[in-house]
Amino acid sequence: MRIIILGPPGSGKGTQAKLISQRFSIPHISSGDLLRDAISKGTELGKKARDYIEKGLLVPDEVVFGLMDERLKERDTMGGFILDGFPRNLRQAHHLEKILSGKSMDLVIYLDVPEEVIVERFSGRRSCKKCGRVYHLKRNPPAKDEICDSCGEKLIKRRDDEEDVVRKRIQVFKDQTQPLIAHYKKYRKLKKVNGKGEVLKVFSEILSELEKG
Ligand code: AP5
Repeated sequence: MRIIILGPPGSGKGTQAKLISQRFSIPHISSGDLLRDAISKGTELGKKARDYIEKGLLVPDEVVFGLMDERLKERDTMGGFILDGFPRNLRQAHHLEKILSGKSMDLVIYLDVPEEVIVERFSGRRSCKKCGRVYHLKRNPPAKDEICDSCGEKLIKRRDDEEDVVRKRIQVFKDQTQPLIAHYKKYRKLKKVNGKGEVLKVFSEILSELEKG
């Protein structure tokens, strides 16, 4: 099963992608996680990406293509995957079509969440740098204060979660990523899901869309 999850920053793409990945035993491929990993390892790609991420801008396509091309060649992607954060503009969507060379996506989920909900979510988000799990301090806090339930690592607040950067990221989404909605509608692959409800309710709506095919 090949799935894309699309949506504004903070719409819950990472949260839902992890649940989908576990349910269907397919890898969760997050371009944001790949970029942050490259930054923390100090690779050349990571050095190029850092400034853009901290300003809330998209990293240049060529940098992202380098990472995604490599990741989508790995063996675990043979049986499918869920893409989170990629593609993010039309050029990236065309690049993905080229990488997949004829194999099409099964479903594109668009998580719809209003802007004021997004800003509130970011104020409470904490992320695990090691395993990528995300929490919200009020709604889904870890069992032990600021420590990841899954791997015991200390949780962090991402630098791009400050309100001014979040507003910029939302604007970038509207300008560059939203056109993908029309692109995937054209291929009748897009399913819009209300991402405002609680996590498991959103997940069950996604599952029912997946069942419909
Ligand atoms: P990326 O890491 O992809 O960030 P994003 O798309 O902005 O999305 P987020 O990860 O911030 O949010 P999310 O939708 O996954 O929500 P989450 O589940 O965490 O990208 C970061 C940066 O990298 C970009 O700005 C760009 O610079 C660069 N980049 C990445 N990919 C790129 C690409 N392809 N091209 C160019 N540049 C690229 O949830 C958010 C919070 O809400 C959490 O606290 C969570 O616990 C909580 N929450 C989730 N669901 C619910 C719910 N239903 N109810 C209540 N709370 C919820």
